[in-house]
Amino acid sequence: MIAPTARGMLELIGKTPLVQVTCFDTAGSELWVKLESHNPGGSIKDRIGLSMITAAERDGRLAPGGQLIEATAGNTGLGLALVAALRGYKLTLIIPDKMSQEKVTHLKALGARVIWTRSDVGKGHPAYYQDMAQRIARESGALYVNQFENPANPLAHETTTGPEIWEQTAGRLDAVVCGVGSGGTLTGLSRYFARVAPDVEMVLADPRGSVLAGYVATGTVGIAGSWLVEGIGEDFVPPICDLSRVRTAYTVDDAEAFATVRTLLARAGILAGTSSGTLIAAAVRYCRDRAGRPGRDGPARVVTIVADSGAKYLSKAYRDEWLADQGLIQRPGYGDLRDVVARRAGDAQLVALAPDDALRVAYARMRLHDVSQLPVMDRGALTGIVDESDLLVAALAGDRAFERPVRDVMTTRVQTLPPEAPLAELVRVLDQGMVGVVVEHGSLFGLVTRIDLVNYLRRQAAGS
Ligand SMILES: Cc1ncc(COP(=O)(O)O)c(C=O)c1O
Repeated sequence: MIAPTARGMLELIGKTPLVQVTCFDTAGSELWVKLESHNPGGSIKDRIGLSMITAAERDGRLAPGGQLIEATAGNTGLGLALVAALRGYKLTLIIPDKMSQEKVTHLKALGARVIWTRSDVGKGHPAYYQDMAQRIARESGALYVNQFENPANPLAHETTTGPEIWEQTAGRLDAVVCGVGSGGTLTGLSRYFARVAPDVEMVLADPRGSVLAGYVATGTVGIAGSWLVEGIGEDFVPPICDLSRVRTAYTVDDAEAFATVRTLLARAGILAGTSSGTLIAAAVRYCRDRAGRPGRDGPARVVTIVADSGAKYLSKAYRDEWLADQGLIQRPGYGDLRDVVARRAGDAQLVALAPDDALRVAYARMRLHDVSQLPVMDRGALTGIVDESDLLVAALAGDRAFERPVRDVMTTRVQTLPPEAPLAELVRVLDQGMVGVVVEHGSLFGLVTRIDLVNYLRRQAAGS
């Protein structure tokens, strides 16, 4: 098989590979994933970026050089930004503030204008990303693409994704497991399979906190919670989302989704976005449930979707520290200040300096790890702390400052806290602009910054 040649990136949208995954126990069923991460913009949303812009051109809603606006959690923005850049349109995107920085950087580099909005408000609130996009479109005369109501969104999947899956499985397919963001993928695939292979089951994978699985089960829309996987799950049923062919829905919590994508990378070599964890965990459950069902069902062939690449989530789902901050992986709890420490010396997660390191090393390490202070360790013992203001004072003092050793500028009178010190003591230290240094039996356990304390308190609140 030889890779295709193309007269530009838009020709490379779609025709993505389908790969079998064997690293999960599927009770004899075959599990295949469609690698939408292979699209040029990095996600399944390239398909709808192309189809929604092409439809607007065709029916005269978009003139050459015209303006587009969209409310998006990222990937649709990238799909639209790619097509807009290559076809000469201006694009503005309204993005809720929980989205990956990586996605937003990519969008801006493609030339889109990004407007941030709150992620903690629901439909009807003026700061809700869709309400905001609608209002700005009205006021500016830009075309509101609106993937949630745009028929060219499901149509892209009905005319491309569905036929590709059918061809790639050579017509032997039992179920498709799908997530819902706008509902475009699920609706388009439902329509296609209703026509060509009505026995193919459509199965919903939904993050815990989203209302859609509950809607499938009960026909009513419950109260939404929050979740961390990106791109799927909703607090309402989108207008274009047709769930009528979905009989089975699985709710998957964030911890299981993140663990699943980590396994997928480590055991199958597939670097998938976080939503793939939800979809694959649901698909595996479906396979096992099916094996246990009496009657005609035997092992099945099941397809699910890797909607985007894990490259966009490396600093989140693929980092243990982030998962621990979110309370998604359990670390031993002590019931004292040690639980507040994010980077523990014993886990080799603590970033530190040696007294003879040059200040340029301190500077580089602070930048790399996004911290404002570092402990200075000498043969395993804490001898000082260097922070940004030490660097600033040294840099202002001039000449070759960055070549000076850390020992010249570090603070040696470090105030330490024993594990059993009360939280109020830590707060007092942080209030003085210092970092909390937790020392147990003379050896450093780790440092506590303000954000570590905030994360700890948030975890406590979530667990209570
Ligand atoms: C990251 C991501 N975005 C979007 C979608 C699907 O979105 P939509 O329902 O808008 O087609 C999925 C579905 O799996 C997804 O994983």
